[in-house]
Amino acid sequence: MTEALPLELDAGREDVLARAVELIGAAWRSFDRYRETEPPIDERVRALLRAPLPEDRTPVFEALADAYRILDESIAQPRPRYFAFIGSSGLPIGVVADALASCFDVNLARYAAAATEVERQAVRWLAEFVGYPAGGGVFTSGGTVSNLTALAAARERALPGSREHGVAQRPGAFYASGEAHYSVQRAVELLGLGTAGLRKVEMDERHRLDPGALAETLDRDRAAGVTPVAVVASAGTTLTGAVDPLDAVADVCAARGVWLHVDGAYGLPAAATASHGGLFAGVERADSVAIDAHKWLYLPKACSAVLVRSAGELAAAFAHEEAYMPHEEGEPHAADLTLEYSRPFRALKLWLAFRVHGAPAFREAIERNLAQARLMADEVRRHDDLELALEPQLSIVPFRHLPGGDLDVDQHNLALAGSLQADGRVYLASAVIDGRAYLRPCVVNYRTTDADVRALVDIAREVGGRLALRR
Ligand SMILES: Cc1ncc(COP(=O)(O)O)c(C=O)c1O
Repeated sequence: MTEALPLELDAGREDVLARAVELIGAAWRSFDRYRETEPPIDERVRALLRAPLPEDRTPVFEALADAYRILDESIAQPRPRYFAFIGSSGLPIGVVADALASCFDVNLARYAAAATEVERQAVRWLAEFVGYPAGGGVFTSGGTVSNLTALAAARERALPGSREHGVAQRPGAFYASGEAHYSVQRAVELLGLGTAGLRKVEMDERHRLDPGALAETLDRDRAAGVTPVAVVASAGTTLTGAVDPLDAVADVCAARGVWLHVDGAYGLPAAATASHGGLFAGVERADSVAIDAHKWLYLPKACSAVLVRSAGELAAAFAHEEAYMPHEEGEPHAADLTLEYSRPFRALKLWLAFRVHGAPAFREAIERNLAQARLMADEVRRHDDLELALEPQLSIVPFRHLPGGDLDVDQHNLALAGSLQADGRVYLASAVIDGRAYLRPCVVNYRTTDADVRALVDIAREVGGRLALRR
């Protein structure tokens, strides 16, 4: 007789697994095509949300059905007409990899045998995919932590001993365009340099960091006794998809011995394409790069990586000697390279995805999204009542509806984004660019079709036209 364990399910676990498989299958089928409307949060879910901590058991099949209902009433980014922010696709092999990784629950804080070797291999594959000569790297929870990890290493190089003594009395600064993702500002705040320690460098008319202005700012700071810690170039900004001139920025950094970090959380996968690879020339000269596989490599969250020229620089910023975790071989543990200690096996989903699809399929999917962004821009240009904010560099295509008459165009477009979300046929968000309000679609989903792109433009005009009549 085997002893009964606590936390047994009220049904056979393999039957529960089979049910979960059915639910995932149903979700995948529902993502194959757009849906006409988004369901509201229903009464049953509302009642569940009011429930206190359960002291009684709910049958597992009932609870699973409720979980599915909740997920179905949530905004799911894998749907083909999700165009807001920078979405993801929940690539099926990634979902399967997540289930397996979660089942084995390996902790990659320290050496975990084959899983650690796979993480290292996935770092090498990712580096090769985007053309970056990485000496090392580590998977993280997202661009925010990847950027923080790289910038902490840069701080330790520029201001040695800052881990131990802090940065008081040692003025230092970081440099980025005004359009860099706000995770850069958060990193600078957390690293003790304060918001004032981030210099927002001028941009050109296409929203790319101006290397001349960067050189002047660095030289001015140096002359004033401020130590430049790192320059952050964006390889695809979140607002407009602008790619900073990486080669020219690398020249400025190399001449001054300043760390260059490339935030490619969104855009860097496009470096692997024939059509846009040239835009990223110079990335190979960076000291570090951040890439989110949960954005434009289509994987489910969370899966990001920070790649560095020299892994020793990460260890210099993060390594600890703990009594219960000796360095037997003298090699750093993975937890010595970034902030997290408990680290799930995030690399498995990228490793499996590259194996089952092959790198060419990813290049092709990214090319297709880039072509869809061009199609969207062409569709916008075809209509007199629409206006592009700027020529798209990657797959973000901000545009606005011109309602005519004396309506305030900014107010109208902010209201339009809300009306489109309520309408439910497409999901979009608004953004303010150069002080003016736009709709800001982003195409990073492998399920999105050309018909979905055309529908977005048609629905924006239809709902925008109706909204203008009501004013
Ligand atoms: C350019 C860029 N960097 C960093 C981030 C932050 O990434 P995460 O949300 O994975 O932390 C984003 C998110 O959209 C981004 O677009």
